[in-house]
Amino acid sequence: MTMYFMLFISLCIIRFCESHIVQATQPINQTCLNFGSDYDCQFYSCFEERFPCGSKYWMLKWGHKYCTRTQKSLLNFDKNGQKLLQQISNCLTNKLLKQRYYTLNKVNCEQLRLAGQRILHECYMLNSKLFCNAFQGKNRDCFFQLIDDDDRRDLTVIRTLTSVGQKCTPKKKLADMRPSGKINQCVLTPTL
Ligand SMILES: *[C@@H]1O[C@H](CO)[C@@H](O)[C@H](O)[C@H]1NC(C)=O
Repeated sequence: MTMYFMLFISLCIIRFCESHIVQATQPINQTCLNFGSDYDCQFYSCFEERFPCGSKYWMLKWGHKYCTRTQKSLLNFDKNGQKLLQQISNCLTNKLLKQRYYTLNKVNCEQLRLAGQRILHECYMLNSKLFCNAFQGKNRDCFFQLIDDDDRRDLTVIRTLTSVGQKCTPKKKLADMRPSGKINQCVLTPTL
């Protein structure tokens, strides 16, 4: 009886761990590391290939999704907005590379999620000056458009935006970061 119970518990623990800890499935790939140093969004998909945590985890749900989306909508933002987004993207990839997550032999997907959230927070705080300059006018609309509704309600996103807003003079509250008017100013100026 006790033995079966122990076996049952062990299996549960193993299963639990399996769903969170992922062994590297691909060798360390220099092309992928170069994507990182080139700030190419393929770094995130490469990372996911080595450590397939799945679409609910940080690397795809945040890293890859917003890297590619930011690249696509970059020109909607004005110069300050573009600079901010580029700095944040570069900061993210730099930190992920420097902290050597890609070269680990296994990762805990939950911890990787926390690391991603922490790094994003750090990158916003490091670029608070740019953030305060950029987060106005049409950039507000563009930023709102960039982030999915569900993601905007994410507590870590709210915490990060609130903290960085505190660094601005005057301080920016979440309400100051929502779209500025009734008309969406975030539209591509047609190039003739
Ligand atoms: C490294 O990654 C690139 C890009 O994903 C891929 O094309 C290439 O086949 C990979 N190389 C190895 C040795 O796995």
